[in-house]
Amino acid sequence: MGLVGKITELFGSGAPDAIGLLEEDHKKVKKLFRQFESAEGGRAKQRIVAEAIKELKVHAQVEEEIFYPALRNVVEEDKVDEAEEEHHVMRLLIAELEKMTARTSRYDAKFTVLAESVRHHIEEEESEVFPEAKGKIDEAALGERLLARKQELMQRNGRGRRPRKATRASRRSQIRRRADEALR
Ligand SMILES: [Fe+2]
Repeated sequence: MGLVGKITELFGSGAPDAIGLLEEDHKKVKKLFRQFESAEGGRAKQRIVAEAIKELKVHAQVEEEIFYPALRNVVEEDKVDEAEEEHHVMRLLIAELEKMTARTSRYDAKFTVLAESVRHHIEEEESEVFPEAKGKIDEAALGERLLARKQELMQRNGRGRRPRKATRASRRSQIRRRADEALR
């Protein structure tokens, strides 16, 4: 293998095309959904939920900002509208989940419903939207823009959502809460 081949193998041939990039995102969240299904314990579940939420938010935002506008006039309008509406429903569920912990009743049910609706959305995108868009959009240019925006948002979200260190007071109230629950 020549030098160029070696470099390509190590670093890839540049930014992935738009549809390939979005499908990678889909795979990633579906993997998190499966991990949630086999996770045990509230802490593990919360960690997976937090990661899935972060991925989903960034994914939906870059699709809405960059990908969907490029699909207008290319893919049937109704399908793009429907995809955007599904993102809206997803955000409603995410907003509710963000106020919950694994101890809140119906936490698992809420996340399961989110996962089911996202799976349905992914299925529709991959079977109806992507095939219709293929060849009619500039996938390489869009892929580059999607990737750049994704990286920017991921960094920003990462910074804003660092887990807080437990203070003495919050630890004390946690102990009290556990004691209360044990007495119930
Ligand atoms: Fe989407």
